[in-house]
Order: sequence, then structure tokens, then C-alpha cells
Amino acid sequence: METTFDAGFREQLNSLLAWRRDVRHFDTRPLPEGLLSTLLDTACHGPSVGNAQPWRFVRIVSPDRRAALISEVDSQKLDAGESYSGERKALYDNLKLHGLREAPEIVAVFCDEQGEAGHGLGRATMPETLCWSVVTAVHTVWLTARAHGVGLGWVSIIEPAGMNALLNVPADWRFIALLCLGYPERPSETPELVRHGWQDRLAADTIRLER
Ligand SMILES: Cc1cc2nc3c(=O)[nH]c(=O)nc-3n(C[C@H](O)[C@H](O)[C@H](O)COP(=O)(O)O)c2cc1C
Repeated sequence: METTFDAGFREQLNSLLAWRRDVRHFDTRPLPEGLLSTLLDTACHGPSVGNAQPWRFVRIVSPDRRAALISEVDSQKLDAGESYSGERKALYDNLKLHGLREAPEIVAVFCDEQGEAGHGLGRATMPETLCWSVVTAVHTVWLTARAHGVGLGWVSIIEPAGMNALLNVPADWRFIALLCLGYPERPSETPELVRHGWQDRLAADTIRLER
């Protein structure tokens, strides 16, 4: 049976999209039993090139691995800061770019580029579409998390080359993202980087063309 969506649903969906935030400030309260699995299950509704379903999720349960991730991201944040100066550097130093210490759940996301599923369909000219498929899955999890009141923060200030060994996953998986999940300290309709004066939203007329 086909499901139809009414105006009330569409309004709620818009509100979900507007309220989805990248979250770096987490309450340490754990997620209810089973909720993380429920959220990751929704990734499987995401589209993927050739239906390859190349997403692979690694839940970080080891305190040592969490500590290693924190130290990697902190040190990359310091290094990246060297490219800024003056006022921009002061803004940068004030940014919190991850919630890896507080978030009750951390999930690393990889793309299995050698998997058989999909049989290479659609990848001959644009092999990168496999990784893009994983990104759509992350977005699906992101929205579903928000619908459960759970915040998600995407952490990318990482040297990807070290991630496979650190997490003991196959060497031919490509690292895509590190996700922090948990209850946000304070939900907000405004992106944190906008609030901190780092980057405003772009006006619609700067991102749309007609030809
Ligand atoms: C591919 C990708 C990588 C990102 N990496 C980081 C990151 O390393 N640290 C961080 O704090 N936010 C990161 N973000 C979150 C962005 O800063 C955030 O999405 C953007 O500022 C807009 O805010 P919003 O997601 O709350 O709308 C990343 C987002 C994406 C899509």
C-alpha cells in the first residue's frame, strides 16, 4: 500500500530539517538500549550506486580507542589552527570541533570499496559515487537521530590513513566520517559556526543558476 504524506507531516519534516544540527556539546547521558541500532538501521534506507550499500559502521566501545581518537582530533585541530592568523585565529581557537569526550556513542563510518554488492553498476565513470552513497546514509541517520531528540556531530579533522589500523578494520575500507551521538546540551535552530561568527549561511541566489 502506498503511503501518502499530508501537510502536517510536511510541516514537521521541514521543522526536522531546520532543527537538524551538527552537535558538539553533549550531555553524557547514555542513549536508551537499542536506540543506536535503530538509528543505524535507518541508514539502510539510503540510496546507493548500483544498490551497493557500501556503508560500514564501527561502534567505538573501547576506552583506549576513544582516547586515541580524541588525541588524534585534538592534535589535528592544533595543526590546522596554524593556517589562521589575527581575528580568524581567535575565532578558530574558540571553536569546539568535536564532542568525543562527552558523547555517549561514537561511530566510525567507512566505505567498502571492494564489496561485491552492486557489481560495479554506475561506477565506471564516477567511482566516487560509492563514497557519496555512504554520505547519504550518514544524512539519513542524522535526520532520524534528530527525530529521536538525539544530536549527531560529524568529525572530520582526522588523518584518515591511520583509522583502519586504529579500529582494526580491513585496509581497503575508506574512512568517511567519525560521528558523535548523544543528547545535545542545548538544541538550536542556528548552526554553531553561524553563532560563532565563523560562516553565515549563503543566500539562495548565490547557489542556484538557470541556463
Ligand atoms: C563532511 C562534513 C564534515 C564535517 N566536519 C566537522 C568537524 O570536523 N568538526 C565539526 O565540528 N563539524 C564538522 N562538520 C559540521 C559542519 O561544521 C556543520 O554541518 C556546518 O557548520 C553547518 O551546521 P549544521 O550542520 O548545524 O547545519 C562537518 C560536516 C560535514 C558535512
